Amino acid sequence: MYDKYLETNEWKIIERGWDAANHPKSESIFSLGNGRMGQRANFEEDYSGKSLQGSYIAGVYYPDKTRVGWWKNGYPEYFAKVLNSVNWIGLRLAFAGQKLDLHTAKITDFYRELNMREGYLLRTFTAELADGKQLKVEATRFLSIVEDEIGAIRYRFTPLNFSGEAKITSYLDFDVKNEDSNYDEKFWEEVAKSVAPKKGDVTARTKKTGFVVSAAMRYELLENGKLIAHTPETAERHSYVENVASIPLKQGSTYTIHKFAAVVSSLNYAETELLAAANQKAEAALKAGFEKLFNEHAAAWIAKWSSSDIIIDGDPEAQQGIRFNIFQLNQTFTGVDARLNIGPKGFTGEKYGGSTYWDTEAYCLPFYLASSESHVARNLLLYRYKQLGKAIENAEKLGFTNGAALYPMVTMNGEECHNEWEITFEEIHRNGAIAYAIFNYVRHTGDREYLADYGLEVLIAICRFWTQRVNWSAAKEKFVMLGVTGPNEYENNVNNNWYTNKIAIWTLEWTIEVIALLREEFPEKLADVFARTNFQEAEKIKKWTHIIQNMYSPYDPERQVFLQQEGFLDKEQLNATDINPAERPINQHWSWDRILRSIFIKQADVLQGMYFFEHHYDKASLRRNFDFYEPKTVHESSLSPCVHVILASRIGYQDKAYEMYLRTARLDLDDYNHEVHEGLHITSMAGTWMSVVQGFGGMRIIKSKLHFEPALPEQWKKLTFTILWRGARLVITIFKDRMEVANHGNQTAEFGLLARLFSVAAGENKLIPFNE
Ligand code: BGC
Repeated sequence: MYDKYLETNEWKIIERGWDAANHPKSESIFSLGNGRMGQRANFEEDYSGKSLQGSYIAGVYYPDKTRVGWWKNGYPEYFAKVLNSVNWIGLRLAFAGQKLDLHTAKITDFYRELNMREGYLLRTFTAELADGKQLKVEATRFLSIVEDEIGAIRYRFTPLNFSGEAKITSYLDFDVKNEDSNYDEKFWEEVAKSVAPKKGDVTARTKKTGFVVSAAMRYELLENGKLIAHTPETAERHSYVENVASIPLKQGSTYTIHKFAAVVSSLNYAETELLAAANQKAEAALKAGFEKLFNEHAAAWIAKWSSSDIIIDGDPEAQQGIRFNIFQLNQTFTGVDARLNIGPKGFTGEKYGGSTYWDTEAYCLPFYLASSESHVARNLLLYRYKQLGKAIENAEKLGFTNGAALYPMVTMNGEECHNEWEITFEEIHRNGAIAYAIFNYVRHTGDREYLADYGLEVLIAICRFWTQRVNWSAAKEKFVMLGVTGPNEYENNVNNNWYTNKIAIWTLEWTIEVIALLREEFPEKLADVFARTNFQEAEKIKKWTHIIQNMYSPYDPERQVFLQQEGFLDKEQLNATDINPAERPINQHWSWDRILRSIFIKQADVLQGMYFFEHHYDKASLRRNFDFYEPKTVHESSLSPCVHVILASRIGYQDKAYEMYLRTARLDLDDYNHEVHEGLHITSMAGTWMSVVQGFGGMRIIKSKLHFEPALPEQWKKLTFTILWRGARLVITIFKDRMEVANHGNQTAEFGLLARLFSVAAGENKLIPFNE
């Protein structure tokens, strides 16, 4: 059973009523981000209850020394973690010595809202302090997506039954730590701080990585909308500065604190300029004022929605779920900087260290490709391009040579951070996802020059890895790939994982095609790539072709299904329904040994391959494999259900598709896994988007053309989504019996619907019945 405490609303996430037990969950769910920084929904005021303080800056990390029981050669020495950084939201309120603390005060009319349309967090409540003083509070904050180094707060309160003195403290606190610190160390060292009336700044440096971050604050106080002239007291301590304003309160008057913070890092400024930049930005924000900054920010969010919204008619919970997912994805990555990427928890918690996984390429890329200008997805690709050198070093550490690259399973700067041998050394299929992402990008955008400039170099390095990773089996007279872990992490050290073998071969095949294509279109650039990579074409292609033609692929001729790995049929052939429901999820109830020996599949594995390479298989084959594998799958990775929605929709299993959809769409809102307090499942949110657009919308790109094969769930009346497609902005609406395509862009677009081809001119709106 899962907990449901949030109201259903199409554009908002709403929590009504105060229950401290829900607060850690809400801190994740109501998180804000603007691609550059993120902030959990911690309270501005001091809070003595349970809370995970989280304020994160994209790309700023610390290499925490690895902690493992038994060291193995090749393990990385550290795990890069995104850091809890300066607490810039802090406001402390005290009334005649009594502090406002929601944990100790009596709270009524508590209301918390995440407004997804305009990108802000709102909170209202009435508090009664121990001595009976009552006040009404309304707090609004946002992280600007226009000025992405600025956060702003409007904190209003009204004393309901008292007058007298209030002390209002605005502070910056850089004396913070990560809960997941391996050795209970603090990761920041103070560099400088200064404080003066109505302003302050703190600068700190990360240990080891040397990132420097400056935060500056400004604030103003108003009574019933009029500025209050006052001179606050200032104070400072280690990595901390504060302004304390003492003001006389009048019962019934409304007091407003506007607090502005600028957070800038040495990723974007010379160290010597940081302090000035932070102060100048905070000052400019104060001058611009809360309303102006807010209006610009809200308008930018509304514009973002025009290319990324999904409208589900007839199912308000599904509507809220999908918008929440889109909102969080757009908060996490905005595509302005190729050094940034998408951690599985984004900026909403510490788990997974904020680092990059194969999730980005395998799950997130399609969302950004379809809903943002192409530079956004391109920057995700460039992130890996820039890390190619490290991927080559990583492969060298494991004994590979000659420019072979093994991209890391988990990384910040290109170096591997993961330290479980079965994943670090064996889960090498991630290399395939990185090649596939290049393919996906090019087929969506048509930007073939990317291949010449960057893509081919990566592909060659990955191909070199695959050709060295396979070996010839004299017994089988085939090439084999031994000792791997597929996407299904409930199997380790298997031989010939079908998915890994498939994606390896595909990479070789596609790279050969890319070389032929570039020879036609960009011969000089091709020659440059060959020179840069020292690539001996004829000899390599001969070798690759030999491997392609002779690679082993495990298959069961009786059932006519691909086998997840060699020996898969030796396992006790059970289905997930055979597991005692009290023992699910099995990863919390069974020993690891029992899980490994069992047949149960954590997440799509063979089916992941069939999803990527659907165009290689007919529907009957998809169905046979789906029928065989899905019942054995326990979906204990949040990345699993989406792949199943897409395949189930394709093969006409509508009920199954919808059942799987429900598991992904509201995973965090309804906290299915009782872990939302740790952060949101950002990368699986992209899977939810794929479920809707590629599953129910049936969107595919086949031979450079957009195609749709819709399969609307029974429960929905209609579904609308937008696809940016080569200069066109296509708003697609799927009804039970027809599809409408409106082209809001400036280029004609061609598309296929159920095997017929159409075109829609700029400004045109086309209605196509399904059974015409
Ligand atoms: C999944 C991986 C995934 C990781 C981060 C794991 O549970 O098995 O496929 O990359 O989570 O989302």
